[in-house]
Amino acid sequence: MNYYINTYGCQMNIHESEKIAGMLEDMGYIPCAEEKDADIIVFNTCCIRETAEQKIYGHMGTTKKLKQNNKDLIIAMCGCMTQQEGIQSTIKSKYPYIDIVLGTGNISMLPQAVNRVRANRKDKVFDENYLKGTEDSMPLARTSAPNAWVNIIYGCNNFCSYCIVPHVRGREHSRKMSDVVSEVKSLIAQGYKEITLLGQNVNSYGHDLNDGTTFAGLLNEIGAIPGKFRIRFMSSHPKDLTDDVIAAIANNKNICNNIHLPVQSGSDDVLRRMNRRYTRQRYLEQIKKIRSMLPDVGITTDIMVGFPGETEQDFQDTLDLVRQAEYSSAFCFIYSRRKGTPAYSMEGQVPYPEKQRRIQLLLKTQNEVTKRLSAEMVGKVYEVLAEDANPKYPDTYCGRTENGRLVNFRCDFNPVGQFVDVLIEQARSATLWGRAVKED
Ligand code: SAH
Ligand code: SF4
Ligand code: F3S
Repeated sequence: MNYYINTYGCQMNIHESEKIAGMLEDMGYIPCAEEKDADIIVFNTCCIRETAEQKIYGHMGTTKKLKQNNKDLIIAMCGCMTQQEGIQSTIKSKYPYIDIVLGTGNISMLPQAVNRVRANRKDKVFDENYLKGTEDSMPLARTSAPNAWVNIIYGCNNFCSYCIVPHVRGREHSRKMSDVVSEVKSLIAQGYKEITLLGQNVNSYGHDLNDGTTFAGLLNEIGAIPGKFRIRFMSSHPKDLTDDVIAAIANNKNICNNIHLPVQSGSDDVLRRMNRRYTRQRYLEQIKKIRSMLPDVGITTDIMVGFPGETEQDFQDTLDLVRQAEYSSAFCFIYSRRKGTPAYSMEGQVPYPEKQRRIQLLLKTQNEVTKRLSAEMVGKVYEVLAEDANPKYPDTYCGRTENGRLVNFRCDFNPVGQFVDVLIEQARSATLWGRAVKED
């Protein structure tokens, strides 16, 4: 019996698909390379923007055809989209061929649901309750070695006015520090070299445990584990990034000098209406402090254009901030209206062509910054964790520097899973090219 998982959305979802795969493999299913060969197809969904939803619904059409040809095919849907209000009735009326719908906090019920549907093909399982319990003891089929993801906090309490995540992922819910630490230790013992701690806002880690646990405390604990490995984390909400977190990065050589610090906008008025709870000035001061405490740090961000009421001046403020902050890269998005969020009904929705113009300008501005930072790296040697072979070129591999830059490099042995020193020879905008050099 074969399974196939379609994953949409963020790292959190990609990691959750590893849990889904783990459960299905425990049941005896094996992964297959093509959807048409599957006995069960899982859609692990995302609804952060309308484009994400359109992609999923578009794909559903193909799956419907597979189901028409194979009545025994089981189709399951889980992830953020299933938690939206009213989605259950939409699925029942428009997508009746879906057998199982689970929410974001009860994917551990998948084996039970699959068994029920297998026992009675007319049975359907629809259970979208989130955060029924932790998912800590689930089997995992990891696919990203030498990298691994570890959840540290689920949910979000921030309610940024544009964002659907708190509505579909529930409130913040931290894992116990001892559980996180033992998972990280076990991954290192298994040979994983880079571990990314995941949370919508990792800086809130521990607050809900009410036992003094903090994110900085967790970083110091994990940073003290012996061995050669890297720790990254994402995302950091700027309003909660404290000096002790920056100090923990500075004091632990295994914690990467790399921070993803989503700014969203460079305009105070927009930030206020987004409910981000920091100002442009405070954010820029934070960047200055990070750069003074962490030499060669790589800072990345998320930025949105076309938030309701965003004026040309607000947008220009964002471009100006991008030039000042010197991000090594930025994920840039066009604001998308999400039903159930306050921004949905705000006045001054920006017309689509204008949003398009703004995002093009934003991408161009960031690209100029990235190009300049990349050019500065040429001629220098960086330690790179080799992640994969580059399929396009022989004897070429790709990996990341400590500060998060992607590097393609030539190497005369297969270095995948190892740290190698790479001399950067050429910078083509975002991508860096180089060759492995021998250590002195
Ligand atoms: N928790 C993370 C981000 C999660 S969503 C954080 O706060 O940093 C990833 C990114 O998607 C956000 O940072 C934001 O830039 C973008 N995003 C969220 N809602 C959006 C919407 N309605 N339209 C467009 N982009 C959105
Ligand atoms: Fe969404 Fe804001 Fe929470 Fe991030 S912090 S998930 S943008 S509500
Ligand atoms: Fe999407 Fe949910 Fe992640 S809405 S971005 S998959 S938390």
